[in-house]
Amino acid sequence: MTAPVVGNTSGGSFTPPAPGAEMPQRRKLLLAATSAVGAAGAAAAGAPFLASWFPSERAKAAGAPVDVDVGAIEPGMLLRAEWRGQPVWVVRRTPEMLATLDAVKPKLADPDSKLPQQPEYAANATRSIKPEMLVLLGICTHLGCSPTDRLAPAEGWAGGFYCPCHGSVFDLAGRVFAGMPAPTNLVVPPYKYLNDTRLRIGDDSKGA
Ligand code: FES
Repeated sequence: MTAPVVGNTSGGSFTPPAPGAEMPQRRKLLLAATSAVGAAGAAAAGAPFLASWFPSERAKAAGAPVDVDVGAIEPGMLLRAEWRGQPVWVVRRTPEMLATLDAVKPKLADPDSKLPQQPEYAANATRSIKPEMLVLLGICTHLGCSPTDRLAPAEGWAGGFYCPCHGSVFDLAGRVFAGMPAPTNLVVPPYKYLNDTRLRIGDDSKGA
């Protein structure tokens, strides 16, 4: 069987030697020189290479949890924060707002939050740790637009979030109505309470 001809970038061709054939002296030298340069290059590049394996301070800050003081949010109001470059909403729901959550269930795509769009501790009727305090990523699950909040009831709708890009509608727990372009509920990010009024978004580890 003839050895295949392999093209090279200079436009010529290179025929690999037959298995077991003696390698020409010049090629041996060339290979040795290339290996030496490769080793030296790798050694020289080692330091920046190693450094690049560790995230920079800026990258660490960008992925770090964010603490938010929620004590000043009035009932029925929304506070905007940012975590990992993404909008985060914190809504203090009134008893009236909470009362709508059960009533809209038959119209929702995933009323019981069965899909993993939230941490386990928020897979409940209010999609939150404290019923009144809703925490959501403000990013539509269709194509990533940021919905607008419509927290007050209007035109036969109890209120919630509306995505202007393609018209998806979400309730006051971020659950999407059935038949919308958005396939799933809005995401609840990981979070925990540091105390009664301080939330840490992006970290739900225990004992910190
Ligand atoms: S991006 Fe929100 S409906 Fe399309």
